[in-house]
Amino acid sequence: MALFLETNNLTKTFGGVAAIFKLSFAMGQGTVFSVIGPNGAGKTTLFNLLSGIYRPSSGQIHFRGQDLVGLSPHEISHIGISRTFQTPQIFFNMSVLENCLVGCHRHGVTGFVAAALHLPRAVSEAKRMREMAMENLAFCGLDHLADRDSDALPYGELKRLELARALSTQPRLLLMDEPAAGLNDSETKEMGALISRLCETGVSVMLVEHNMALVMAISHRLLVLNHGEYLAEGSPEQIQSNPKVIEAYLGSGDESDG
Ligand SMILES: Nc1ncnc2c1ncn2[C@@H]1O[C@H](COP(=O)(O)OP(=O)(O)O)[C@@H](O)[C@H]1O
Ligand SMILES: [Mg+2]
Repeated sequence: MALFLETNNLTKTFGGVAAIFKLSFAMGQGTVFSVIGPNGAGKTTLFNLLSGIYRPSSGQIHFRGQDLVGLSPHEISHIGISRTFQTPQIFFNMSVLENCLVGCHRHGVTGFVAAALHLPRAVSEAKRMREMAMENLAFCGLDHLADRDSDALPYGELKRLELARALSTQPRLLLMDEPAAGLNDSETKEMGALISRLCETGVSVMLVEHNMALVMAISHRLLVLNHGEYLAEGSPEQIQSNPKVIEAYLGSGDESDG
């Protein structure tokens, strides 16, 4: 059986400087897999490579046996990789529900004309998408706010809307960039529980997050990057006791939760 996600000698350089250098790792399906490392380690660059925003300078990425290199972000979203952004990518002039429907429409097969003419297929599809969006909102605890203006949401709920929005493309793999950034302790715990539940429903999660307590609590495996290179991989226990990791990162004193 093909591996879920795998990179091989993945490299991305900017003006001769490698942000990711000869990185090889594999992520298993059904896991919360975290990528950690000091600022500038290459975490965001890795997400941009996996989601097709950047094209690798060299190396390979395979997702469920399929080569991702050269595919557009749209194509990558279509084969099942979605992402959340550290700063929620919300349309503030739309309602909470409409924000989720924006993502759903990628999965629609019926055209605009059919929808405008209220052809039966378009109507049932619109209904199906609305139901799916409502399910995702309910999963994120936001269904009671579906008709609210998005700009009226407090930050903690915006972060959960960002998750609901990303789920509307029905991803198999969700890349989450700092889901707990800006959240208080109880909101952070809620977000952690949400990510664990999401994984239980069959969505694999790759996580970049600075809150080490959260990362260690919910991750099955961790990959540690340092200056764009592979430093270590293992369970939370293995990573926390790995001398190389402690020296490069956890012991550096620049993490509030380290
Ligand atoms: N678009 C870009 N142009 C030039 N350099 C970049 C670009 N994106 C990232 N880098 C560089 O690549 C390195 C890794 O950055 P990044 O992936 O943002 O790290 P992290 O997310 O782990 O903090 C840094 O040295 C950064 O300056
Ligand atoms: Mg970053």
